[in-house]
Amino acid sequence: MDFKKIDINNISFNPFSKIGNEWMLITAGNEEKVNTMTASWGGLGVLWGKNVAFTFIRPQRYTKKFIDSNEFFSLCFFEEEYKKTLGYLGSVSGRDEDKISKSGLKLCFLDNVPCFEDAKIVVTCRKIYRQELDCGCFLDEDLDEKWYGNKDYHFMYVGEILGIYGK
Ligand SMILES: Cc1cc2nc3c(=O)[nH]c(=O)nc-3n(C[C@H](O)[C@H](O)[C@H](O)COP(=O)(O)O)c2cc1C
Repeated sequence: MDFKKIDINNISFNPFSKIGNEWMLITAGNEEKVNTMTASWGGLGVLWGKNVAFTFIRPQRYTKKFIDSNEFFSLCFFEEEYKKTLGYLGSVSGRDEDKISKSGLKLCFLDNVPCFEDAKIVVTCRKIYRQELDCGCFLDEDLDEKWYGNKDYHFMYVGEILGIYGK
């Protein structure tokens, strides 16, 4: 595994294209059991004097159980050639099949947080905040109607960034 820690002040990627267009894997678990899912919503920023990552997870995701029951999670970004794999990990649930094995991705741990050797960039995070989005808080009600017809409001998780690793 040849990841090197990157100084957060020197990161050279665009978070908008990385998250929104290239997608990421959100991964949580422990040495015994890990789950992962694809995400294209989220962010990197600063909050409470800390460098943080934001993720938004629907309640029905199996990955949510793993994020809830572990202190840490990771965000992994990949080269374009992995897009099909990310499509697969974002369309099948770990409840129904051993999708990590089937994906062929190799699990590893950085800062004791599960992530993937195949990734180009890994962000390790410690959970510091969780909140279910509240329909009463939408200032633009069209968004509520558009995204939450089933009332399955995302849970927002804020993670303090422990490290950003690249190859
Ligand atoms: C491109 C893409 C982006 C996605 N973004 C999110 C997201 O930000 N939040 C979310 O809850 N689900 C998102 N999903 C859906 C989950 O990845 C998908 O439901 C996955 O199968 C959940 O797996 P799990 O049940 O094993 O956790 C996305 C799926 C794709 C393909």
